[in-house]
Amino acid sequence: MNILLTGGAGYIGSHTAVELLAKGHSVVIADNLSNSHPAVIDRIETITGKRPLFFEADIADKKQTEAIFSACAEHQPIDAVIHFAGYKAVGESVAKPEIYYRNNIDSTLTLLETMQTFGVNKLIFSSSATVYGTEAEAPYTEQSPTGNCSNPYGWTKFMIEKILGGVALAHPEMSVVLLRYFNPVGAHESGLIGEDPDGIPNNLFPYISQVAIGRREKLSVFGNDYPTPDGTGVRDYIHVTDLAKGHVCALDYACLHTGVEVFNLGSGKGSSVLDIVRAYESASGRKIPYVIAPRRAGDLAVSYADPSKAKRLLGWQTEKSLSDMCKDSWKWQSQNPNGYRSSDE
Ligand code: NAD
Ligand code: WQD
Repeated sequence: MNILLTGGAGYIGSHTAVELLAKGHSVVIADNLSNSHPAVIDRIETITGKRPLFFEADIADKKQTEAIFSACAEHQPIDAVIHFAGYKAVGESVAKPEIYYRNNIDSTLTLLETMQTFGVNKLIFSSSATVYGTEAEAPYTEQSPTGNCSNPYGWTKFMIEKILGGVALAHPEMSVVLLRYFNPVGAHESGLIGEDPDGIPNNLFPYISQVAIGRREKLSVFGNDYPTPDGTGVRDYIHVTDLAKGHVCALDYACLHTGVEVFNLGSGKGSSVLDIVRAYESASGRKIPYVIAPRRAGDLAVSYADPSKAKRLLGWQTEKSLSDMCKDSWKWQSQNPNGYRSSDE
């Protein structure tokens, strides 16, 4: 099949492109490069031996999006879409909510309208465990309560899930799969693609990897007084390659079903911040100095998935260990100390 990946030059999209190409699919990437680098397209080709078709485009722009579907229709029409495009920085979404609502929701609506124009009816959406908000308790099942999100970014995911549910109901020929990711980390085992945050990383793994490489002095552990075994926050970390494979399974599912279905993509296991520090130290052979800092506003004590529905209906489960996540993150970081940018860029 020919699969359009909106935001496919980003962290999760690029790993998904690799897995789709490995399964024999064709891949079209549309990305405005607002949070990614064009070098990723070459890296995907180096890993797979196949080059995705790349369009630098804003998916919230109707003309640009229609032009992509139209160009593809002439040679190989788009069969399904995986919609990764969007902004994802939680703190920034609190400071600039209008930009987050505009980009994340507009891009989805424009994409939906264009899919309808071109008769494309299979859509997989990057949702997030953040939709479980503050009322649900881990392990989260897909039936756990959603809403009560602690930031605008989370609300955009919540709202888009509602929009897509309504659209699938109104158009019975559509197949929509909502994937709620837990904490994606690590990198492709080649060390050629990985997470490349701009500026000071907000998330734990990229922060630790920059401490390990010497770009940052020490990690601040946000709180050690949570009701968890060692007092630090517990999360469900999932290797990005496992996550990418989950999209291939979701695509197979979308080909066999119509309507809307939601799946947790997580490992089902919780690890604390200090578990990650220790695992990273042993994978990298580097010391990770840390200090205990106050809790970060909006953080939960514990979040992890019940991934049994994905196992049952998608035939998918995680395969990689915490040690693989740290090893591959370190390989990416040490081979690319400045991410995709060369040192003189
Ligand atoms: P990312 O920022 O690396 O990738 C998103 C890509 O979308 C970027 O390449 C960016 O340039 C592009 N983009 C943004 N707005 C666009 C637009 N209007 N038109 C075209 N391209 C646009 O993020 P990621 O970590 O790969 O996340 C992918 C998706 O998964 C996002 O929707 C994110 O919210 C969601 N998600 C991510 C995580 C995570 O922790 N990484 C967790 C849960 C859900
Ligand atoms: C993990 C743990 C922190 C940084 C975020 C988004 C979520 C989803 C995934 C998109 C927590 C602690 C972190 C640091 C620390 N993204 N920490 N020092 O917050 O679970 O999830 O990414 O949908 O919506 O909120 O991930 O990696 O930021 O934090 O102690 O410098 O590490 O307190 O316990 P989080 P994270």
